[in-house]
Amino acid sequence: MQKDWWKTSVAYQIYIRSFYDSDGDGMGDLRGIIEKLDYLKTLGINAIWITPFYPSPLDDNGYDISDFMAVDPSLGTLEEAKELIEKAHSLGIKVLLDYVMNQTSDEHPWFIESKSSVDNPKRSYYLWAPGRVNPAGERVEPNNWGAFFGGPAWNYSPETDQYYMKIFSDKMPDINWDYEPLRKEMAQVARFWLDLGVDGFRMDAIAHLGRDLSFKNSKLAGPWELAYDWSKFSNRDVLYDYLHELHKDVFQHYNVLTIGEVGGGAKLPDALKYVNKERPAIDMVFNFDTVWCNGLENRTILKPEKIKVNVAELRKRLVYWLKGSIEAGIAFPMYWTNHDHPRALSQYGDINFHQVSGRLLAMVLLSLPGMIFIYNGEEIGMTNVDYQSLEDFKDASSRNFIRDHKHKYTSEQIMTHLRYAGRDNGHLPFQWSNTKYGGFSTSEPYLKMNDNYQWINAEDQMNDQQSIWSMYREMIQLRLESDYSSILTQGNFDVLDHQHPDVFVFVRRYENHEIITLANFRDHYVQYPIMSGKVLQSNYETYDHKGLQPYEGRLIWREYDEKNS
Ligand code: NOJ
Repeated sequence: MQKDWWKTSVAYQIYIRSFYDSDGDGMGDLRGIIEKLDYLKTLGINAIWITPFYPSPLDDNGYDISDFMAVDPSLGTLEEAKELIEKAHSLGIKVLLDYVMNQTSDEHPWFIESKSSVDNPKRSYYLWAPGRVNPAGERVEPNNWGAFFGGPAWNYSPETDQYYMKIFSDKMPDINWDYEPLRKEMAQVARFWLDLGVDGFRMDAIAHLGRDLSFKNSKLAGPWELAYDWSKFSNRDVLYDYLHELHKDVFQHYNVLTIGEVGGGAKLPDALKYVNKERPAIDMVFNFDTVWCNGLENRTILKPEKIKVNVAELRKRLVYWLKGSIEAGIAFPMYWTNHDHPRALSQYGDINFHQVSGRLLAMVLLSLPGMIFIYNGEEIGMTNVDYQSLEDFKDASSRNFIRDHKHKYTSEQIMTHLRYAGRDNGHLPFQWSNTKYGGFSTSEPYLKMNDNYQWINAEDQMNDQQSIWSMYREMIQLRLESDYSSILTQGNFDVLDHQHPDVFVFVRRYENHEIITLANFRDHYVQYPIMSGKVLQSNYETYDHKGLQPYEGRLIWREYDEKNS
C-alpha cells in the first residue's frame, strides 16, 4: 500500500444518522451510505470518514457507545459494514471510522460492572473519587472541575457513594487510560475494525486521555465554584505515552492513517508531539482553530447580527498551522467545519449570496494544502437551522445550554444563539431533492429538516453547471486529476497580502509554476489589483481586473521565476 495516500486525498465526512435513510425509519443508516457511494464517486472524493455507528443509547449522537465492536441495530449489521468497506474499496474510496477513545456510554457493560462495587475487576476502567463536603455540609463533587457540556466534570453514583469523572455528558463516563488492562482492551477495539479492512481512524477527543490524576482543584475558580479549566485534562504529557504504545501495539502493524481530534486547545508544539517521527503516535491532528473566524467565537450569548468573516484572523490561523506544518514536515487535515460546528455556508458564506459564496468556499478549501475534508451537505451549501422552537434542538450540548441559560434569557434569545452556534446545525438531515422530506427518507426524519431543501438540494445542483456542487466537483478534479494537481497537492503555501481586511490571497508554488487564489469574503465589490496569468477557475461568468465582485473567487495560474519574484 502506498504509505502516504492521504497526501493526495479529498475525504468526505458522513454524519451517518443524517446522511441517507434506506429503510424508511426516519434515520440514516449503513445501507444508505452503501447506496450513495456512487454519488460520492461522481463528486470525486477518494476517502470517507463515517461518524460512530456502534450500539449507543444516543445521549451524544452515537459518541456514547455501549459496544465498541458491533453495529447499532437501528443502523445496520456488521455484514453491511463489511459490504460498505468492500464497495468503497472497489470504487477507490478509503474508509476511516471514528475511534472513540475518551469515554463509553454509562450503559456499556464495563461501566455497569465498574459502578457495581469498589472491588469489581472493572472498577479501574473508569475514574472514581469520593465526594467532598462543602461549608453548608452538603455532599458535592470531588473537585471544582467543569465539563465541556456545562456543569461539573463528575457525576454521583449511589451504588458505591462515589463520583465518576465525565468531561462530556453525565451518560458518558471517561475511561481510565492510566490503567494498562483498559489500554489493552482499547487496542483490541482498534484491531477489530482494522482487521475488517478499514484504512484508518479519526480518533475522537484524544487530547483528553491524560488527566491530572491528583484531582486537585483548579486555581481558575474558588474550591466551591466551577472552573472550566481544560488544562486539567487536555494535551497532558502522559497521553503521548499512551498513544505511542498504541502505535507500537497496533497501528504500525497495519500501515493505516490515524488523525487525532485535539479540539481547540492544542497549538503547533503540541501537534509536533502527537505527530513525532522519533516517537510515532499518530499521523495528523484535527484542531478547531480555523472554524470560528467570523467574530462569534467565545461569546456567551449571541444576538441577531450579520456575520462578518474575520479575514485577518482566518489568514493568521491558516498561516500558523499550514506554514508551520509544512515547515515541520507534518501532514495536516484541512476543512471548514464538521458535525460539531455550524454549517460552513452560514459560518463563512452568505445565504443572500448562496451560490457564489458556496462556490467560493469550494475554491478556497480545495486550493489549500493538506488532506481535504468536506463535510456532508457542504457541497450543496446547506445552511444552519431555522428552528422556531426550543424543543427542536436535540443535541446534548444544546440541551445543556438551554438548561443553563433559560432562567436568564428568553427562549428567542437562546434560539438565536443556538441557530448561530449550536451543534444541531451540523446534524441536519441531508437535502437530496426537493421532494417530501428532502428525499432523505420516506417518513418523518428523526431530526427536523430545514425547509430550504426545496431550493437547496443535491439533485437540482447536480444538473446545474453553475451550482455549488458542480464547483466542488470541478475543484476536486482540478486538485486530483489535472495538469495542476502537483501544484495543488504538493506545492508550498504562502500568503501574498498579509494586510487586506476583506480579501484573502494565497499562493501555491511547485517547481516553476504557481497558482494564486483570490477570495473576497465581503458582500460588496472590493477593488484589488488582480495579477496577470491564466484564469483557471472563477465563481462568476464574467469578471474584471480591477477588483472582486461580492464573494468572488479566482484562481490564477502562471509561471514562477524566483529571480523575478
Ligand atoms: C468530539 C466529537 O466530535 C463530538 O461530537 C463529541 O460530542 C465529543 N468528542 C465526545 O465524544
